[in-house]
Amino acid sequence: MKRRDFIIKSALAGAALSAYQILPFGGMKKVNGVGNTLRFPPELQQGESLIFNSSNVEVWPGTTTQVLSLNNSYPCPTIRVQKGDDFSVLFENQYTEEATIHWHGLLVPELMDGQPKDAILPGNSYTYSFPVFQRAGTYFYHSHAHHLTAKHVYKGYAGFFIVEDDNELQYGLPTGEYDIPLLIQDRHSIYQPQFNYSPSNMDRMLGYLGDVPLVNGTPEAFFEVQRTLYRFRLLNGSNARVYKIAFSDNSPFWVLATDGGLKDEAVQMNSVYLSPGERLDILFNFNPYAIGNSITLQSQNFSGVGTQGTQMDLLRFDIIGDLSSGGIVPQNLAPINYYDINDITGTRTFTLSQGMMGNGMHRINGLTYDMNRIDENIPYDKLEEWKFINTTNNFHPMHVHGVMFQVHSRNGNTNLSPNDRGWKDTVLVNPNETVSVLAKFNDYSGIYLLHCHNLEHEDDGMMLNIKIDAPTNVEDEKARPDTFELNQNYPNPFNSSTKISYRLNNPSQNVTLSIYDVNGNLVEKLFDGVQSAGAHTINWNASKYSSGTYFGRVIVDGLIKIIKLVYLK
Ligand code: C2O
Ligand code: CU
Ligand code: CU
Repeated sequence: MKRRDFIIKSALAGAALSAYQILPFGGMKKVNGVGNTLRFPPELQQGESLIFNSSNVEVWPGTTTQVLSLNNSYPCPTIRVQKGDDFSVLFENQYTEEATIHWHGLLVPELMDGQPKDAILPGNSYTYSFPVFQRAGTYFYHSHAHHLTAKHVYKGYAGFFIVEDDNELQYGLPTGEYDIPLLIQDRHSIYQPQFNYSPSNMDRMLGYLGDVPLVNGTPEAFFEVQRTLYRFRLLNGSNARVYKIAFSDNSPFWVLATDGGLKDEAVQMNSVYLSPGERLDILFNFNPYAIGNSITLQSQNFSGVGTQGTQMDLLRFDIIGDLSSGGIVPQNLAPINYYDINDITGTRTFTLSQGMMGNGMHRINGLTYDMNRIDENIPYDKLEEWKFINTTNNFHPMHVHGVMFQVHSRNGNTNLSPNDRGWKDTVLVNPNETVSVLAKFNDYSGIYLLHCHNLEHEDDGMMLNIKIDAPTNVEDEKARPDTFELNQNYPNPFNSSTKISYRLNNPSQNVTLSIYDVNGNLVEKLFDGVQSAGAHTINWNASKYSSGTYFGRVIVDGLIKIIKLVYLK
C-alpha cells in the first residue's frame, strides 16, 4: 500500500463509522435488483463520423425513447483524445433540422466552434478539425443551433470530450475503470418515457426543470464500486438545473479539477454547486464502507425559484469488492498562475436582466442575441476584468467561448470556494450576485460567444457576439528586451521544417509559441507551458501546410515577439 493512500483512509475512518450505522443495508447483503446499472456511451473510434439523427433507444427498461442524438447513442459517444492530437471528425446532419457541434471548453478556430451562425443544414456535412493543445480535462460537446440548442440537448444531443496527457499520469490518479465520467441531466416524468420538449412560459423563464435525474442517460442509476479511490468527472448537461453535489452521508470528497483541468491542489469539500455547462472532477474513497453497503450521490436542497434546489438522488454506489485502483490523492499538483487584478487593462460589465414574459425576456446589457451584430470588441492578449451583474432572482451560469478564465470575486469577496479556483469557462452567477472574472484571450481571434448556459435563457437570446481582435503587429508591442530574446528561425526560408529558438532571462516563465498565417489565424500551437531560464529550441514541421509566409509568435509572461517565417516548397 502506498503511504499516501493509507493516510487518506485514516482521515476518513471517523466519518465511515457513523455512515455505516445509518445505512439501511447492513452486513454482507448485496444491494442488487433495485434500479438500473449505470450506462456508459460508446467511445468514438478513429475515423468514425458523427451522424445526427433521431433514433429510438432504451432509457427506461422495456420501453423506448425517441432521442435526437449522434450515432444512435444517448448520451452521445464519448470522445477521448491526447493533448497534442489533431482532432478531426466528419459531421453528417441526417435530421430535418439544422445543427452544429459546439466543443464546449475547447479552444478552437471560429469556424470550428459550432456557433449558431455556422449551422450545418439538413442533408449537409462538415468536417470539424482542430489541434488539441489545451490542458487535459473534462470537456463537453453539444448542438448549438439557433433557437434549437435547448431542444437538441434535452432530447439527447450531448457528450463528453475528454483530453488526456502524460502530465496527469505522474500524479498517480485513479485511471481506467476507476476514472468515471458522469453526465448529469434531468427529465420530465409526465412525458416518460419520452423526452418531450415543450416548455411553458414559466419554463422559458426559469428553465426547463425536470424531476427525474438521469446519469449517463440512466434513471435510478446504480454503479458497483470497489472499496478504493475513484475519480468521477461530473458534467452538468442539464438545460437549467443546478445541482448541489454531495454524498448521502455528507462524506467529504476532493475537488480535483475544474472546467479547464486539474486544480493546483485537491481540496476537500462536503458539497459543491454544479451549474449547467460546468464540469468538476472529484476524488472519492469508498474504502471506509463495508462490502454490501451503499452510498448515494445526491443533489441537496437549496433555495431557488420553482423546483430549482429540490433534493434528488442521482446515483447509488453499491460497494461490492476489495480491489484497489492504486490511485492516490495527489499532494502537489502543478501550480496555476493566477492572474493579478492589478494587471487588468480594462473592465467590462455585463448586466443580466429579466424583462417581460415572451421573447427576449432574458438579456445581457439590455440586448438579445443577433448573430449579425458584434457586441464587444476584445483586444488580443490583454487581461480584462469582466463583471457579471445579476439583477434577477434566477441563476445564470455564464459561459464564454474561446477562452479559459479565472474567477476573481463574488460580490467583491475574493475568498472563493475551491470549485471557483482554477481554470473555468462557465461560472454560476447566483441571484442578485455580481461575479467578477479575469480573462485574457490569447489563442484564436474572431467571433465567439458569451451566453447564459441555462439553455432556455440562451435560446431566448441571452447571448452576445464577442470579437477577439487579431494579434497586433510586432511594432506595436513593447516587449522588454531583458525578458527574452527571440532569434530568427533557421533555416529561413525553409522547406518543410525549421527551428525556432529563444532565450529566457528569468527563471520559470509562462511561454507560448504559436504559428499564425498572414491573416492572423492560428495555424498551430507549438508550445504552451512553463519553462526555465536559458535557451530553448522548438522545431516546426510545416509539411502538411501550404508554402507561404507565416509568423512565429512567442509570448513570455504576456510580452509578445514575432518572427517572419518563409516556407518555400
Ligand atoms: Cu456549451 Cu455556447 O455552449
Ligand atoms: Cu461553449
Ligand atoms: Cu440565465
